[in-house]
Amino acid sequence: MATADNAPAPWRDLLKSHMDQTPGYEFTIATVGFDENQRPIPRVRTCGCRGFFPEVKLHPKSKEDMEQQVKDGGNPDTYESDMLCFTTDIRMEKLDQLETSGHAVEAVFWLKDVMTQWRVKGKAFAIGDPRGEDLEREKDARKELHTFLRVKKNCDGSISDWTWDRATTKYFANHSPLARGSFKFPSPGLPRSQDPKDPALQMGQRVTDLHDPVARGNFRVVVIQPEEVERLDLSNQEDMRRWKWTRSSSNAEKGQSGWIETEVWP
Ligand SMILES: Cc1cc2nc3c(=O)[nH]c(=O)nc-3n(C[C@H](O)[C@H](O)[C@H](O)COP(=O)(O)O)c2cc1C
Repeated sequence: MATADNAPAPWRDLLKSHMDQTPGYEFTIATVGFDENQRPIPRVRTCGCRGFFPEVKLHPKSKEDMEQQVKDGGNPDTYESDMLCFTTDIRMEKLDQLETSGHAVEAVFWLKDVMTQWRVKGKAFAIGDPRGEDLEREKDARKELHTFLRVKKNCDGSISDWTWDRATTKYFANHSPLARGSFKFPSPGLPRSQDPKDPALQMGQRVTDLHDPVARGNFRVVVIQPEEVERLDLSNQEDMRRWKWTRSSSNAEKGQSGWIETEVWP
């Protein structure tokens, strides 16, 4: 399977440094839904941004869990990408909306400490079905995302040892036991008065098993392939500035990074 052999996106280092300067940031994720008359409607919600897939810096306790429960303590440190990601529950509405809208997504951050808004428009794919690639709700999701992975310059380990299962397990491990338990809540969005029936689905559970079948059955990592990125810099009120980067597949084919930068009026 091919991976991206192009350079990192020109906006990546700056966005990363802005995120690094903003501890505990969330972003707003927009998808497109359809009402009962098949009219497109915007849907937005807050999600925790988990940085660029598949790199996630684990808390010491999560690292210990990975070392004890996952072969080799997880994947070798071989890949990086320009794809931001977040985690979610397969029972929430956003995944249906991604499927019915051709994966359309937009993410927006307002990083006040650096007075900058970042917007990332693109396609999003959910991965993480513990039963494997063939049973993933979106059959080609992993294949799609693989083309956007880049082998790291100082690649540590063998690519052939890298697996999607270990990549998604690492994101699950990065949640606290109580947060992992949220993937065993009664179905999000159903009336609280309705008995969930399944005794495995309860509030307030602590999950220490990284392969808990119920929680992992519901847990997914959503990965965004960026197509257009915009930075709005409000740090100087007298000279606000805005840049737009668009990805062009024809440039990528020529071996360039594939991104065209344009500064626009704010
Ligand atoms: C601070 C904060 C962080 C959140 N983080 C996430 C998250 O990482 N993933 C997620 O699916 N929902 C997260 N939520 C809940 C969502 O905003 C939303 O209620 C939920 O995803 C259901 O949305 P949906 O049915 O439209 O998919 C978060 C909410 C808040 C307020």
